[in-house]
Amino acid sequence: MVMGVIEFSHFLMEQAIEEGETVIDATCGNGNDTLFLSKLVGDTGHVFAFDIQELAIDNTKQLLEVHSRQNVTLIKDSHANIDQYMDENNRKNLGGAIFNLGYLPRSDKQIVTKKESTIAAVQSLLQLIRPRGIIVLVVYHGHAGGELEKEAILNYVTKLDQKKVHVLKYEFMNQKNKPPFIIAIQKRGEK
Ligand SMILES: C[S@@+](CC[C@H](N)C(=O)[O-])C[C@H]1O[C@@H](n2cnc3c(N)ncnc32)[C@H](O)[C@@H]1O
Repeated sequence: MVMGVIEFSHFLMEQAIEEGETVIDATCGNGNDTLFLSKLVGDTGHVFAFDIQELAIDNTKQLLEVHSRQNVTLIKDSHANIDQYMDENNRKNLGGAIFNLGYLPRSDKQIVTKKESTIAAVQSLLQLIRPRGIIVLVVYHGHAGGELEKEAILNYVTKLDQKKVHVLKYEFMNQKNKPPFIIAIQKRGEK
């Protein structure tokens, strides 16, 4: 069964993340991934959801309310500052993170993720997540500036030490119009 990128990103999180853990939605947008993660870790787990836009935080808050989810902390700040929000307990329990790069659908297409902050966030997360924890990036790159971010990320992840992390690329080779693809980074070692 071939999965679409969103479906596959969720599949990867389901395989790596356990109930009761802490997870991060690094780009909460309209809240779809936040809602998914909230259910995945369950009431004993916790989600930290980041976005730089008030609109994204509001949309995510509304979606979570509709679904009566209470295990989420919404943070209006750049994911580049993730480590500032992780206390001792969350650091111990952090199973992974998901990113959907690009712009907020049906919103201002000028506000996009950028290579500097995305890579800074991934660098922090690689320190913070537990062994066998996962970072999943859904890389949208068809918009203005998307190509630059894509190239920087590919350049960065291909240089990561294979003894420390597995890096996977999941991509449709025959789709037109710059389809999104996935980069997944799993930390090696024993849980
Ligand atoms: C493709 S959208 C995310 C869609 C979301 N996953 C969903 O399910 O609706 C990308 C989001 O990244 C946010 N963003 C851009 N730069 C950011 C940053 N440095 N830190 C956190 N969020 C950022 C944008 O505001 C936008 O809402």
